[in-house]
Amino acid sequence: MPSATSDIGLIGLAVMGQNLVLNMADHGFTVSVYNRTTQKMTDFVAQCRASEPSAARVVGFAELSDLVASLKSPRKIVIMVQSKAVLPSDRDGVDAVIDQLLPLLDKGDIIIDGGNSNWNATIRRDKQMREKGIRFIGSGVSGGEVGARFGPSLMPGGPEEAWTHIKPIWEAMAAKVNPKTGKAIEDYAPGKPVTEGETCTALIGPDGAGHYVKMVHNGIEYIDMQLICEAYQLMKTLLGMSAGQMSEVFGTWNKGELDSYLIEITTDILQQADPKSKRGFLVDKVLDTAGQKGTGKWTSGSALDLGIPANSIAEAVFARCLSALKDQRVAASKKLRGPSKGKKISGKAKLIEAIRDALYCSKICAYAQGFQLMAEAQKEYNWKLDFGRIAMIWRGGCIIRARFLQKITQAFRKDPKLVNLMLDPYFKKALHDGQANWRKVVALAAERGVPAPAFMSALAYFDGYRSAVLPANLLQAQRDYFGAHTFERTDTPRGKFFHVDWPQKDRPILEA
Ligand code: 6PG
Repeated sequence: MPSATSDIGLIGLAVMGQNLVLNMADHGFTVSVYNRTTQKMTDFVAQCRASEPSAARVVGFAELSDLVASLKSPRKIVIMVQSKAVLPSDRDGVDAVIDQLLPLLDKGDIIIDGGNSNWNATIRRDKQMREKGIRFIGSGVSGGEVGARFGPSLMPGGPEEAWTHIKPIWEAMAAKVNPKTGKAIEDYAPGKPVTEGETCTALIGPDGAGHYVKMVHNGIEYIDMQLICEAYQLMKTLLGMSAGQMSEVFGTWNKGELDSYLIEITTDILQQADPKSKRGFLVDKVLDTAGQKGTGKWTSGSALDLGIPANSIAEAVFARCLSALKDQRVAASKKLRGPSKGKKISGKAKLIEAIRDALYCSKICAYAQGFQLMAEAQKEYNWKLDFGRIAMIWRGGCIIRARFLQKITQAFRKDPKLVNLMLDPYFKKALHDGQANWRKVVALAAERGVPAPAFMSALAYFDGYRSAVLPANLLQAQRDYFGAHTFERTDTPRGKFFHVDWPQKDRPILEA
């Protein structure tokens, strides 16, 4: 029987799991590890032995019961297995591991799910664990492999008293940000983790709150990526720019307000030569069909369920769906005609600047949608979310990390009850300053037949949100006409509903 000396256990040694273990070991924690396929565990532990400081701090076990016995009390066990469930009620790999663990645990022990689980599944598991006296945390982990290794953004949700126990480990492991600049500190190396700066983790809320916020992070990730792709498409189609030339543009943008991880990697991607053919840029050889694992779809589904117009996030999901219809698109491209080519565009530098503005304004709308969605979700699920803190956590480690998030942090710090990000003075000014160019780009895209669904839907959101009057008066009249769904009147107090048998016999006759 092993003695209980490890600080934490981790089950599931795919690359994310392995990197989290190495990260924890770098910070001085002793980690017990287990993998269903034992060979993977032994290989990993052998690899750890070859380097300091993980050599003494990573201990492998072939039996779950031994792993459990090796942990200090209360035991803390991270599950890093993929959830393949289609519905949150479906039992999946996470449930299977929990089932195996439960008979081995004592009351008060803590299970942490670090996968991209659906928040409803996390709420279900939290309830199930409570009944058994076990504490459960669903923790969003963002930042891909490198993030997991050197500093991810961590979004835990669960009971406060369980968080207290994992807090020192989570705070050590998470990315660190320079509080003055809001930028992630990235001068890390194996064995030399970053220990200074503001940490990118905090308890998000109870039960599914952490996984919900991680899901919204992913929804925003989808639209952030789509916006960049539309900027790329416009420069490519309208200005005939090569990937290499666009890389320079993105590199320049990355020095300003758009400074972000996704713009940075785009700059790299666009200058990558094709290693196979040794000719041209690799991006031009990548097939234009996008995959997705489902978190963008969940975000959009939740927005629909809660009645929040996160139209740009949904548009980004549909853009991936449309991209996947490659064969149909190829066939349709030979049959459906767009506008004639139009004359060559002059003023290249000006158009590039306009595209940048369109991207920035659309990005503000996308984040406004994401934060509005979280604001509604907290009412639905009885959470108390701190949006300033969420923005802070997203400043480093995660995929959407950006300079911009410092501004969002400040906006919610100034006004924690901010109804919509677009109303914050800084973002309002940015929208006002950029909208002429944004409209120009959207109009040009429509005129020239270049698909720009995210730019367009973000603009429609902006225009819709700032409209005191929308045509829903007619829509509600239509509903009342065919379905007696009633309507409110502009000249009576809200909450009084009317119905008319349309068409009214005494309806006014318009004069000819
Ligand atoms: C992260 C990412 C990650 C996500 C992948 C792929 O925060 O590290 O969001 O969690 O799973 O980026 O997502 P899609 O396959 O849906 O694009």
